[in-house]
Amino acid sequence: MSKLKSPTLAILAALPLMTLAVPLSAQTVLGSGVPASTTENSQERPIAFAAQPPAGSGLLILAQGTEIPSNTGLTAAEQSAVDAAMKAAGFKGKTGDSLMLRGIGDRPFILVSGAVKPDESGTDWRAAAGSAIQELKSEKAELAVVGAPDAAAMADAALGLSLGQYRFDRYKVGEAKPPAAQKVTFAGNAAPEARSLWSGRHRHLAEAVRFARDLQSEPASALYPESFVKRTRAAFAGVPNIRIEVLDEAQMREMNMGAIVGVGQGSPRGSRMMVVTYRGADGPPLAIAGKGITFDTGGISLKSNSGMWAMKADMSGAASVMGATLSLAKSRAPVHVVAVAALAENMPGANAQRPGDVVRTYGGKTIEILSTDAEGRLVLADAVQYVADRYKPFALVDIATLTGSVGRAVGTEFAGLFARKDDVAQRLMEVGEQSGEHLWRLPLHPVYAKAIKSDIADIKNSGVTGAPGASAGAHFIGYFIDEDLPWAHLDIAGVEWRDSAQPLTPKGASGFGVRLLDQLARNWRE
Ligand code: BES
Ligand code: MN
Ligand code: ZN
Repeated sequence: MSKLKSPTLAILAALPLMTLAVPLSAQTVLGSGVPASTTENSQERPIAFAAQPPAGSGLLILAQGTEIPSNTGLTAAEQSAVDAAMKAAGFKGKTGDSLMLRGIGDRPFILVSGAVKPDESGTDWRAAAGSAIQELKSEKAELAVVGAPDAAAMADAALGLSLGQYRFDRYKVGEAKPPAAQKVTFAGNAAPEARSLWSGRHRHLAEAVRFARDLQSEPASALYPESFVKRTRAAFAGVPNIRIEVLDEAQMREMNMGAIVGVGQGSPRGSRMMVVTYRGADGPPLAIAGKGITFDTGGISLKSNSGMWAMKADMSGAASVMGATLSLAKSRAPVHVVAVAALAENMPGANAQRPGDVVRTYGGKTIEILSTDAEGRLVLADAVQYVADRYKPFALVDIATLTGSVGRAVGTEFAGLFARKDDVAQRLMEVGEQSGEHLWRLPLHPVYAKAIKSDIADIKNSGVTGAPGASAGAHFIGYFIDEDLPWAHLDIAGVEWRDSAQPLTPKGASGFGVRLLDQLARNWRE
């Protein structure tokens, strides 16, 4: 018997006691307790460029109207079969029009996809390729894309296809994974030029949107402030001209960031303020600040259960500022950007903040908490003051899933845009058009001050009057921003998640804001 009492066994026997002796605060919070097993997301089609479509591949023809382009690689007989089918089907060639053909030549399939904007104001190569790839989701064969007339159109189509083929299936471990995706070749005379456009910029933009969508899609059991930071650090690993600063809860408390600390105090998962600077140019930076609530239960002002799961994406603003910065940095854009993610989990724990509480913010101003569910504006209050004070930006844009109200006002085609100055609003509207992430301006006006005037503190975080919610929220954030600093607020609640597939977004996370902010930083320099 005594032989069994080896030193190793003695240590093992003592282990449970040692574990108990570790104070709770020092233990790692393990998500849902037992993390779900995962695989990688299933593989997407690798993208290539060539002068000719490979023999025997499936063919996607992007059609600008009813004529099929000349460089399809089809024989004359195949070409006339496709022509006849288009006529018979009454194919018009507008975005969303598509015609699937099988049994023509040696191609496993030929899909004709319309590229003319429905309002006929031009051609949207991205949308045509993005919708088509979703239709081709279950096709296994290698694919070639023809019809884009020049390098820019080819690279745009590649971007659209890349965004359209996004999937988040890493938690489907019980199902057989589809076989490795075959490549897609964009064929045309401008292939070399298109390839360099793609590898210089579009590829990084697509990767950044994928990064943001992955973060949005992750359940809150896996994605919380600390793991958001970890994954973002990993994405930026080895990227030149990047500096990362992360404040933990103790440091934020030290700096009097009572608003973000208050929001996170009901959760055992510590809040973080993550600041990523990309210095691709000298001079003051453009600051972009994102709401990063990794889950919004509403806190003590608890939300109802219906649709609450979607609050795992209440960190979409934070994902988009980090995604845009990743895209800018990886494509070596000549810009200086500072991105801040205000990360907290809004939970109704025993130590949660209560309605009626008063907090002080980084700059000293005080807030009376009327609703713990108006938490996005709280974490942003500290974030915008901190970034303006420490990084002296020439302009500031914040982006947040701030209010349900904005979706009711402008629907799912636009994000709400708020700006004090017309020239700032104008600039943002133009970038919305260019990037394909559209904005609509809503009122930002001192009349909304009344609704959020507190009896006992400088301001309160939600109004009881009938003030329009999105405008009151915008006004609240503006209260913490110097009148002289050019500033815009984007309310993306309503566009961050898609209930049905869009040309560039399969059902689910949209990554809204990555393309917009990437474009904004390139256009707006001091
Ligand atoms: N995260 C929500 C807003 C939201 C709603 C985002 C629906 C996405 C979809 C935000 O924190 C919130 O709860 N806003 C409140 C504000 C109110 C308490 C002033 C709202 O919109 O009801
Ligand atoms: Mn809320
Ligand atoms: Zn929220």
